[in-house]
Amino acid sequence: MRRAAITAVGAYLPEKRLTNADLERLVETSDEWILERTGIKERRILPRGKGSAFMATEAAKDALRKRGLPPEAIDLVIVATVTPEHPFPATANIVADAIGARRAWGFDVEAACSSFLYALSVAADSIAAGRVERALVIGSDKMSSIIDYRDRATCVIFGDAAGAVLLEPTEEEVGVMDYLHQADGSGCTFLHMKAGGSVLPPSVRTVRNRLHYVYQEGRQVFKHAVVQMAAVAEALMKKHNLTADDIAFFVPHQANKRIIEAAAERLRLPMEKVMMNIERYGNTTSATLPLCLYDYEGQLKKGDNLILATFGGGFTWGALWLRWAY
Ligand code: UT7
Repeated sequence: MRRAAITAVGAYLPEKRLTNADLERLVETSDEWILERTGIKERRILPRGKGSAFMATEAAKDALRKRGLPPEAIDLVIVATVTPEHPFPATANIVADAIGARRAWGFDVEAACSSFLYALSVAADSIAAGRVERALVIGSDKMSSIIDYRDRATCVIFGDAAGAVLLEPTEEEVGVMDYLHQADGSGCTFLHMKAGGSVLPPSVRTVRNRLHYVYQEGRQVFKHAVVQMAAVAEALMKKHNLTADDIAFFVPHQANKRIIEAAAERLRLPMEKVMMNIERYGNTTSATLPLCLYDYEGQLKKGDNLILATFGGGFTWGALWLRWAY
């Protein structure tokens, strides 16, 4: 059976760090509150003048370099992002051009914090179907471009970064095995950006009213995330008779340490089996999952079962069973 396997992981992390102490100077908050409620110590911030395409390009180049492949080997580039370089064309097209992937077609996937997992699923299906040989799936978000640094409820959470995976076909029992995704559009009210789209295009009024930033009712999102991320991962594991013992690592979206711990508990997974790097990067939206794979790559062995899971705006959520290929 033909499947898509991850054969390399790349990343890009901006150099500038925004610490909890820095945020204490911007809004009324404290290092203790942020650490206790979110688990975050610092995030990375991309300088002005650079956007998501720059970070995605660097992460993609890193993955290709690690695999030793030329960019012409890539057929498909998908960029997962909520902060595209421009409203159009797709950031994926800009990235494909920048890395020299001249044979590739591509597009962006926007499903809030689930963007990367959905993009990975679509790319894996294209490879499994024999339509595509090699794909780059890149999660890249410059969250600092849509965060209001006067709003303490959101500015302490998010950071900028990109992560990329290279997908190639395999006939072995490794790679993307299955996934289960769900969505509920009634969740839009709790997490969205009010202006900048077609219903409320940018205007002096929208800028004055600070409507071009992430709006989140954190407690509502938290309630849903705690339940749904674990439930969908549990359902996928049950479907394939996978128990906690079969899982090498649970790879959750990095939105809040408390959500991650609650999900691990429900899945009866000890925290040693849970990838977590939220402390250093915050919530990087589309980049959290590839960044986890990047950070833990050295601990993974061929055949390891991983369950990737996410919950985000939309609402969107899902889980994906991946067998590590190298
Ligand atoms: O990745 C996309 C999906 N997003 C998520 O999964 C995020 C889910 N939500 C969360 O992670 C949490 O809800 C937050 C971290 C956003 C907030 O934590 P919380 O424990 O849910 O706090 P809260 O919103 O219920 O606020 C509790 C109190 C409030 O004060 P009062 O009303 O009790 O007096 C807030 O005003 O904490 C206050 N507060 C803060 N205090 C200090 C909110 N933000 C801050 C802050 N510093 N930065």
